[in-house]
Amino acid sequence: MLKVGIIGATAYTSLELIKILLRHPEVKITYLGVRRTDRPKISDIFPTLKNLLDLTCETIEQKEAPKDIDLAFITLPPTISMQYVPLFAGNGIKVIDFSADYRFRDKSLYEKWYKAQHTDSKGIETAVYGLPELFRNEIKKTNLVGNPGCYTTATILALAPLLSKGLIHSEDIIVDAKSGVSGRGREPKEDTHYCECNENIEAYSVGSHRHSPEIEHILSIKTNQKVSIQFVPHLIPMNRGILCTIYAKPKVVGANVRSPLHDDEVHKLYKEFYGKEPFVRLKEGNEMPRTKDVIFTNFCDIAAKVTENRIIIISAIDNLIKGASGQAVQNMNVMCGFDEKTGLL
Ligand SMILES: NC(=O)c1ccc[n+]([C@@H]2O[C@H](COP(=O)([O-])OP(=O)(O)OC[C@H]3O[C@@H](n4cnc5c(N)ncnc54)[C@H](OP(=O)(O)O)[C@@H]3O)[C@@H](O)[C@H]2O)c1
Repeated sequence: MLKVGIIGATAYTSLELIKILLRHPEVKITYLGVRRTDRPKISDIFPTLKNLLDLTCETIEQKEAPKDIDLAFITLPPTISMQYVPLFAGNGIKVIDFSADYRFRDKSLYEKWYKAQHTDSKGIETAVYGLPELFRNEIKKTNLVGNPGCYTTATILALAPLLSKGLIHSEDIIVDAKSGVSGRGREPKEDTHYCECNENIEAYSVGSHRHSPEIEHILSIKTNQKVSIQFVPHLIPMNRGILCTIYAKPKVVGANVRSPLHDDEVHKLYKEFYGKEPFVRLKEGNEMPRTKDVIFTNFCDIAAKVTENRIIIISAIDNLIKGASGQAVQNMNVMCGFDEKTGLL
C-alpha cells in the first residue's frame, strides 16, 4: 500500500484529490498538512468527507518532512510550494507539485513571470512536466513531477497533434479560453465574490496570464519550434469546467490560400496521435466538446474543424480533475507502476 500525504489539505484541489484517492485500491492517505495550527479533522473542513475520512490535519513545517509517507502531493500556491518540495524530494519521497514552481525547464522564464527568485534550482532542473500523454516515459523515471496548469492542459492537448506534424503556423495561434470560478481557488478574491461573477462573463489577465508562457514553453520543447500564442482567459459563472476554442492557421501549400487539410484528415491525425490514450476523447462530425460531459471526470474532449482559412480546435476538461487532481493521480499511477486508469475510471 502506497502511503500518501497532502500538503495544503484545505485547498479545493485537495478535496478532489482526497475523493479520488479514497477510491484508489493501492493507496492510503496517511498525512494531511495544513497551515493552521488547531489540528482540525479534514471532515470538519470538508463536511462531505464525514465518515469517509476523519483524519486529523497536522500543521505543516518547513524544517522536517512528516514521517510515514512514500509520496507527497503539494497543493500550495506558486512560490510557496518550492519552500516545501525540497523537504520531501530531498528525503527520497516522491513528489507531485500542483503549483507552477516545477513546470518550467527555464528558471529565468519562471522568475520573470512569477516575479520571485526560484529557491530550488536542483528541483526545477530535474522535475518532469506531468502531462502523461506527452511525457509518459519521463514521468515513469522521475521522483518529482510539476503537475500542469488547467488551461495549459486543455490547450496543449488540443494543439500538440497539429504542431507536432508541422501543419499549422506555430506563431499565429489564438486561444480563447473560459473557466469556471473554482479555477481561481478557494481563497476569496474580489472577482470571485458571488455578486461579482454570477450572471457575468469577463476576460481577465489579457496578455499577462501566467499560463501563456507555460503553454508556449512546453509546446516549443515538445515540438522543436518556437510556439507563440495569443491567450485570452475568461471567467464564467460556473463552478467548474474549462472550454478552449483555438484558432490556428494552416500552412499553405503553393499559392492556394485554402487549408490543404479536410476535416476527416485532421480527425485521422488526432486519432493516430492519441491512439489508445485513456483520457483523451475525440469528437466526430459536428459533435462538440461540452463542459457538462467532462466535469467530475479525468477526460479531455477534443474536436477539430477546418474552415476557410483556419483550423478551429475545441477542448474541454474539468479544471479540478484533468486540470489538477485527476491528472496528479494519473501521474502517481505512472510513477508508481500502477495501471494508469486506477481510481480515475
Ligand atoms: N483551482 C484549480 O482549478 C487549479 C488547477 C490546476 C492547478 N492549480 C494549482 O493547485 C494549487 C492549489 O490550488 P487551489 O485552487 O486548490 O487552491 P486554494 O483552494 O486557493 O487553496 C490554497 C491552499 O494553499 C494554502 N496556502 C495559501 N497560502 C499559504 C501559505 N503562505 N503557507 C501555507 N499554505 C498556504 C491554503 O491554506 P489556507 O486554507 O490556510 O488558506 C490552501 O490550503 C495552486 O498551486 C494552483 O495554482 C489549481
